[in-house]
Amino acid sequence: MTAQLISTISTPIKDLTKLPQHIAIIMDGNGRWAKNKGLPRIEGHRRGANTLKEILRCCKNWGIKTLTTYAFSTENWGRPLTEVDFLMALFERLLRKELAEMNAEGVCIRFIGDLSPLPQSLQQSMYQAMETTKNNQAVYFNVAINYGSRLEIVKACRSIAEKIEQGELKPEAIDESLLSEYLYTSDSPDPDLLIRTSGEMRLSNFLLWQMAYTEIYITETLWPDFNQQELLQALESYQKRDRRFGRKVS
Ligand code: FPP
Repeated sequence: MTAQLISTISTPIKDLTKLPQHIAIIMDGNGRWAKNKGLPRIEGHRRGANTLKEILRCCKNWGIKTLTTYAFSTENWGRPLTEVDFLMALFERLLRKELAEMNAEGVCIRFIGDLSPLPQSLQQSMYQAMETTKNNQAVYFNVAINYGSRLEIVKACRSIAEKIEQGELKPEAIDESLLSEYLYTSDSPDPDLLIRTSGEMRLSNFLLWQMAYTEIYITETLWPDFNQQELLQALESYQKRDRRFGRKVS
């Protein structure tokens, strides 16, 4: 979207010319936020969901076309069963409650990850949400659930190998862009900016291939406390970066 177009939308962003097109977020710190307040961990997730709604709306209003969030990793199954069950129920409840509004606001929702081990009713809600919003274009909202980047790459390699075995593809046709087409994110550009909350400095098996040249912004703020103001700070930090994509500058 051009700066001229976005200027018709009310925005607190000072410089509209160098905005990221795609933001990825590792929403970390829900549990610590709850613990600090003497609340159960699940309360942190509940509050985290409110934060996500606010940040998605900011992206939509500010012309940031794609938001990809890490909601549940392949490793998160190792959490206590009560917490896993709560998260699955929360995802489903939110989808049912928010779908109509998200659709009316032009959100195109896509789930990335292996959805097959998720509870049946949750899978149904997910496929319904993707089908309902598939033609929306105001903002693309990717939610990674049961997602792991290494497994995503392994699955892509397996699919490519099958095509070769069936004689549909030649090994020399494999290049970076072909492999990208076999990833869950084939419809999205690579993220320009990764935000991770709660001060951890790790990628945690999130979009490893896609984030080869992504700018990273870490904040100590715990996810439930992240807000519009914090997002603005991340954007201002991003706008000061000199992105060279490995190229040498004179
Ligand atoms: C990380 O905090 C957070 C999660 C594993 C769950 C994220 C889920 C939400 C924000 C709920 C809403 C999401 C959607 C997509 C509807 P943590 O539990 O690892 O926190 P800790 O590191 O402080 O323990």
